Amino acid sequence: MGKIALTGDRPTGKLHLGHFVGSLNNRLNLQADKSFDEIYIMLADGQGLTDNFDNPAKIRNNIIQVTLDYLAVGLDPNRVTICIQSALPALTELTFYYMNVVTVPRLERNPTVKAEMVLRGFDKEDEGLPVGFFTYPISQAADITAFDANIVPVGEDQKPMLEQCREIVHKFNSIYGETLVMPEIMLPKNEKANRLKGLDGKEKMSKSLGNCIYLSEPSEELKKKVMAMYTDETHINVTDPGKIEGNAVFNFLDVFCEDRHFVDYLKDYKNLDEMKEHYKRGGLGDVKCKKFLLAILEEKISKFRTEREKWQNNLSDVYDILDAGTKKAIKKTDATFERVKKAMKMDYFADKDKIVNEWKEIISKG
Ligand code: TRP
Repeated sequence: MGKIALTGDRPTGKLHLGHFVGSLNNRLNLQADKSFDEIYIMLADGQGLTDNFDNPAKIRNNIIQVTLDYLAVGLDPNRVTICIQSALPALTELTFYYMNVVTVPRLERNPTVKAEMVLRGFDKEDEGLPVGFFTYPISQAADITAFDANIVPVGEDQKPMLEQCREIVHKFNSIYGETLVMPEIMLPKNEKANRLKGLDGKEKMSKSLGNCIYLSEPSEELKKKVMAMYTDETHINVTDPGKIEGNAVFNFLDVFCEDRHFVDYLKDYKNLDEMKEHYKRGGLGDVKCKKFLLAILEEKISKFRTEREKWQNNLSDVYDILDAGTKKAIKKTDATFERVKKAMKMDYFADKDKIVNEWKEIISKG
């Protein structure tokens, strides 16, 4: 079998630069890699509901926002199949059967679920832990296996999901025979690229922390956000020596700055190392650094904005992309589910003559 990749996002908000460096960039490389036969990107609205069940409008609205973000960064619907999770019935059916091969203590050990539980208050007595949320790693295993995905490009935080999925595949295959494809995780290559901090210098860019730059950020907002970024609180006067470590502006520059940007926007230095040296010595002000970063980000995001606008003015085409992608995904995942039912000896309506003969035999044996 060839290479099949599946990845996805919960449509719970517009995508930001953290998503771009953590996953979208990776997907762009994937779509350019001709060794992949099929690439699927799934809008995991069902999974999004596991912790947003009381706000379905949020999920619905973000289906279109996230799709536009995909198209804006250059994901090509001719190369990647974009589909909607809830429209694929095989996924929920598979989940139902995979639940038999996973234990409660095993789910309780999942560190990502544990951390998310605390974030959402599901660890508190009065809130309680919704079963749907608790079991979403099983449904994610259904997502992955339904597409016969052997490669799952995701971030570090998804490692426990992949481990869980691999265990399910192993157990399922050992009971019912070789049926499911064993997936491999594909982590982003560039370590540095995983590490985009928030505007406030906090460890992670995230919507809930309110420290994001969105891929669709308007120019004025972008400027405001960059100019208010956290740098180094001890760097008060331009002449003071400055710290690079923990400085959000330099963290962003580490991720986005290329040597050519100095030619275009800041001729004082040849490269980032030279610029950092000056900052550390003292004599380089924050405003100058921020203006440089702003120029780099504006260049990048303005491309996304232009592309997004094109699609926004053509929503009927966006609908057709999702519709066609989902139809293709239904076919793919239904085929897997048929295989699973057969392996589990539940293909009662596959072949009438065969089944009737089988029944006769069972009855004749008493
Ligand atoms: N859990 C993933 C996330 O939060 C989203 C997701 C759902 C996913 N199903 C998937 C990722 C299948 C990869 C494969 O980002």
